[in-house]
Amino acid sequence: MEQEPLIEHIGRYDGQAVTLKGWVYNKRSSGKVRFVMLRDGTGVIQCVFLKNDVPDAAFELADSVTQESSVEITGKVRKEERAPGGFELTATDLKVIGLAEPYPITPKEHGVDFLMKHRHLWVRSQRQVAILRIRSEVIKACRDFLDDAGFILSDTPILTPAACEGTTTLFNVDYYGEQVFLTQSGQLYNEPLSAAVRKTYCFGPTFRAEKSKTRRHLTEFWMLEPEVAFCDLAGAMELAEGLVAYVVGRVLERRRPELATLERDVSRLEAVKKPFPRISYLDAIELLNKKGKGAKPGDDFGGDEETVIGENFDRPVLIHHYPAANKAFYMKRDAKDPGFALAMDMIAPEGYGEIIGGGQREDDLGELEKRIAEHRLPRESLEWYLDVRRYGSFPHAGFGLGIERTVAWICGVKHVRETIPFARMLERVYP
Ligand code: 4AD
Ligand code: MG
Repeated sequence: MEQEPLIEHIGRYDGQAVTLKGWVYNKRSSGKVRFVMLRDGTGVIQCVFLKNDVPDAAFELADSVTQESSVEITGKVRKEERAPGGFELTATDLKVIGLAEPYPITPKEHGVDFLMKHRHLWVRSQRQVAILRIRSEVIKACRDFLDDAGFILSDTPILTPAACEGTTTLFNVDYYGEQVFLTQSGQLYNEPLSAAVRKTYCFGPTFRAEKSKTRRHLTEFWMLEPEVAFCDLAGAMELAEGLVAYVVGRVLERRRPELATLERDVSRLEAVKKPFPRISYLDAIELLNKKGKGAKPGDDFGGDEETVIGENFDRPVLIHHYPAANKAFYMKRDAKDPGFALAMDMIAPEGYGEIIGGGQREDDLGELEKRIAEHRLPRESLEWYLDVRRYGSFPHAGFGLGIERTVAWICGVKHVRETIPFARMLERVYP
């Protein structure tokens, strides 16, 4: 197939005539000149129509064509230092493919609710395109990092009979008369897979019926979850640190223009280098008290606490050894101090909060049986999970990285709703 000219690569066509297909992003006119900003999904280019150089019909259309109409514009590519992409198109013709009705999203300010209702159109805007491109880069970088480290991508099921992260945020699904749930995490399935391929990961949508209406919560979000056999808490922290440092580096390397569109302060991202600080949960409690945010051992950290902790560091911080009572049933306890779990979270700087949660798993059959009973989980649905401890049990650890929170932080976007193409939240499932 012959390659069609795209704005992204327009420099390759310098001095040549090309036909570009796209949408009218914006337009203006002055005297005998009409300017059409053409957007093709890979970039934006200014097309200049001079009255004396184009057919009358095309000159007319350059004026009357509506915002977001799809068009075909022919012209000569010309270097123009002052143009955003460094090039301009001296147009010779314009054809309308699909004339747009009056476009609901105009350059004036719109409220978030209006924009979210028009999300299917809002995604066309430059800012949203930049976020979509960075999200794609983050996902590719995550996968490259793990693939290159010898991990095997093994996908875990979406429909599951068991709860992984507590029973309060489950979405029920009627499965031929039987009740099953949408997955909260692939972890329980990753564990047996780690005994099969040693280093595994899953990457897919996860679901939580969150009652929280915050800037960090979605009901459907994407999680990257590596799991490693013969790995402990320290190993999981090292892996998490390496992954996040790599992902930030990749975005800095390949997505500078998008970061500029978002007016992201890249110096903050450039500081994200290994090693990341590691502090214990008790150190974190002390830090909170020092910062005047009263906290006592046993407290759970919410968004506010995470923000205060994160603001103390110029790069992500790893917090480990949380109280076992606050954590999920599968967490291994510290042999020296069983009140604490071999758990860790990674907190992003600049108030973005927890982006990673994980740790070392309970690998002792008897201990795990006790935890399942304490958490009142239906044991029948977890027999297979116990088998991993019955047949050659092994220390193992892993974590989950929330893609949307990571993208929000890297982009410097306040709310996670802009970091997924179509957000699902407590009060939103449209469009
Ligand atoms: O800390 P969480 O709940 O950990 C787990 O699910 C583990 N089973 C993962 C594992 O060890 N394999 O969730 C992991 C991450 C969080 O740190 C956060 O980034 C993200 O998933 N996350 C959410 N992101 C958006 N909206 C929500 N409601 C989220 N809940 C968790
Ligand atoms: Mg967590």
